[in-house]
Amino acid sequence: MYLYPKWLRAWHVLNAVLFIILIVTGLSMQYTGKKDYVLVVGFEAAVRWHNSAAVILTINYIFYVAGNLLTKNGRYYRIKRDSFFSDLYKQIRYYSYGMFKGEKHPFPVTMERKFNPLQKLSYVLAMYLALPLVIISGIGLLFPEIVAKGVLGVSGMILTDLLHITMGFFLSVFLVIHVYTCTLGKKPGTLFMSMISGYHASEDHYDLED
Ligand code: HEM
Repeated sequence: MYLYPKWLRAWHVLNAVLFIILIVTGLSMQYTGKKDYVLVVGFEAAVRWHNSAAVILTINYIFYVAGNLLTKNGRYYRIKRDSFFSDLYKQIRYYSYGMFKGEKHPFPVTMERKFNPLQKLSYVLAMYLALPLVIISGIGLLFPEIVAKGVLGVSGMILTDLLHITMGFFLSVFLVIHVYTCTLGKKPGTLFMSMISGYHASEDHYDLED
């Protein structure tokens, strides 16, 4: 099944590389001391790399949103309200129990359904909530003059910074879980190969129908 078009794969690989640069330089800025201690890169270099990677990531994100609006890929992210919780429960039960008992996947991948309910929820939260918030707060930190002076007596810059590092933390946790769940395909490397070739390997054969 051809599920990962070229534009999506190009967005994804650039996004992944930029994300790693942002996490490393973000941590570096946080832990590199003014005196001798340097985590990976010095403070100045970390700021330069972080800002440049963030600008490219933002442009790449606009490309991703446009791609999802203009192609059929966006439909895979739509959450159905009626069966949302029961489907989520089925998927959580599978990951925590059924999978280890050799049960069949409750939501096999088809041309109509690329993501299981848990994947869908985590992708929607990461891509349409956490990432926009990290980008908006990042723009605020880059241009402090546009940030409100204060809200209820608390500095606007502190709130913006708090939002930025909290969302950055959530996205870092997302990345770890994301890479782990990507090993849960037919074989540990199957889903990674899909993101390279564009073709998802179904349960028992490669279906090159599209
Ligand atoms: C080392 C880094 C990464 C690796 C190895 C990786 C791996 C993968 C793989 C194998 C898939 C295909 C499986 C699937 O459909 O779920 C995938 C899809 C996806 N990944 Fe990643 N990923 C990485 C980083 C990221 C990051 C940083 C984000 C966003 C913050 C992200 C967001 C997504 C999204 C939204 C999809 C679904 C795209 C679509 O089909 O519409 N990934 N990733």
